[in-house]
Amino acid sequence: MSADRILGIETSCDETAASVVLGGTDVMSSVVSSQIELHARYGGVVPEVASRAHVELLMPVVAQAIIEAGIEDREIEAVAATYGPGLVGALLVGVSAAKAMALVWDVPFVAVNHLEAHLYAAFLEEPELEMPLVIVLVSGGHTSLIVMEDHLRYRVLGSTLDDAAGEAFDKVARHLGLGYPGGPIIDRLSIDGDPTAIAFPRAMARDGWDFSFSGLKTAVINHVRKNPEVSVPDVAASFQEAVADVLVDKARRAAREVGAAGLCLAGGVAANSRLREKLLDVCVEDGFRAFLPSRAMCTDNAAMVAAAGWWRLQADGPSPLDVGADPSLRLPTI
Ligand code: KG4
Ligand code: ZN
Repeated sequence: MSADRILGIETSCDETAASVVLGGTDVMSSVVSSQIELHARYGGVVPEVASRAHVELLMPVVAQAIIEAGIEDREIEAVAATYGPGLVGALLVGVSAAKAMALVWDVPFVAVNHLEAHLYAAFLEEPELEMPLVIVLVSGGHTSLIVMEDHLRYRVLGSTLDDAAGEAFDKVARHLGLGYPGGPIIDRLSIDGDPTAIAFPRAMARDGWDFSFSGLKTAVINHVRKNPEVSVPDVAASFQEAVADVLVDKARRAAREVGAAGLCLAGGVAANSRLREKLLDVCVEDGFRAFLPSRAMCTDNAAMVAAAGWWRLQADGPSPLDVGADPSLRLPTI
């Protein structure tokens, strides 16, 4: 089924976002209203606070996305919303609103997997990406090494056995008293730190395709406890280096093994400067194409939801209106 002008809606965590995307690639508008300040005082996302904020923010954000796209409501041809994984109350706000809009405008509703949406962020900026593609999907809730064989066809080689990479950034930052969310703060602080100052462990660096970050997080916490005078930028840079090392080493091995055309980053942690730099370096050394979506497309947004929705609608048609939120949804694999 084909519908080109898609309204995307994203409410899975702490960003309320709406976007209009044409043909799965042409971003006409992308509005993201972050709730970071609401949650910062609690040191993390409070689900009930997030749901309430989505209820208040969603319709103004949708209205702004439609205005910025320079179109009228009746020109929307389908409505796509994230239905999982994420916080159940937060997801329900987006899914219910999207179904209501689809019914009123008499257009298809498309339920979108948030992880698939992150993978499609890359195609917004580079529609002709060659496959197979090895994608490192690193967000606040997920860390996986994925081979994308073709559109909508994935193999998950490995995933984290404990903390997600973003979760490790957030927990380390919280322990250092740096604030929330930790990833961007550690990224900034690391500029003034020495990444070789402390030799933090690279867990499972050589075994298999899975990852483990909770030992690294504990090692950082123990190091700071034993050395209270340690330079915080050195800790930040050394921790960041350890995360980037394991992610990039495994991605490089995977790309060699599957004969990938390129390597790609996806998810909020893909905004990390050092991770981007290291991935680029190995791509230059090994001759893979590197693809790094812009930072705004790495973190949660609705353009990626509209893009994934466009592909899903073409392949599977509209989603039934009885689809509910699925907080623990996984990536569909072949
Ligand atoms: O994809 P995302 O926006 O939301 C989820 O789906 O989880 O990812 C959020 C995660 C947070 O853990 C945040 O700390 C991390 O991405 N993050 C970063 C950076 N920017 C965001 N981590 C490291 N470096 C960054 N520059
Ligand atoms: Zn996300």
